[in-house]
Amino acid sequence: MGIQDANTGGNVHGGTIMKMCDEVAGVAAVRHSGCRVVTAAMDRMTFNHPVFVGQLVTVNATVNAAWRTSMEVGVRVESEDVRSGEITHTSTAYLTMVALDEQGQPTDVPAIEPDTEDERRRQREAQLRRDNRLRERDEIRRSRDE
Ligand SMILES: CC(C)(COP(=O)(O)OP(=O)(O)OC[C@H]1O[C@@H](n2cnc3c(N)ncnc32)[C@H](O)[C@@H]1OP(=O)(O)O)[C@@H](O)C(=O)NCCC(=O)NCCS
Repeated sequence: MGIQDANTGGNVHGGTIMKMCDEVAGVAAVRHSGCRVVTAAMDRMTFNHPVFVGQLVTVNATVNAAWRTSMEVGVRVESEDVRSGEITHTSTAYLTMVALDEQGQPTDVPAIEPDTEDERRRQREAQLRRDNRLRERDEIRRSRDE
């Protein structure tokens, strides 16, 4: 990370990390769906440890679950002190990406077929986050209508 990514204290901006997560999640979603995608939501982004100028940042993304037109992409961010080789898990984020057709309308995506226990766990947890997200949205709408 360079000085353009950081504040005057040398801490990399959270927004810079978020942008990287968004881009990498988008690539994972395009690979899975074969379509162009948009970010519908980004939630549960954590910043567990600071990232400093001079560190090497690696962002990995996995499509955890796919529904009709949307996918949950899990992103893991790690920083590396290049001289010592020490690697720190600094952030996790979950993004909902929606696949679009040529007219810009949401379009169906292929299902995820988990093979490993890890993949099944990711799919299960993604389903739980989606259920919670939709339940929260419905509750808020209901309470506004009352
Ligand atoms: C995302 C978007 C295409 C959804 O459009 P829409 O008219 O709500 O479409 P639908 O109601 O058919 O929903 C499509 C999917 O998006 C999901 N979705 C919509 N809004 C969502 C939200 N706020 N959070 C999570 N998922 C959402 C729906 O659950 C649905 O998923 P499913 O088909 O797998 O069940 C539209 O809101 C949009 O274009 N947003 C702007 C995206 C953008 O500009 N992103 C930043 C730059 S990439």
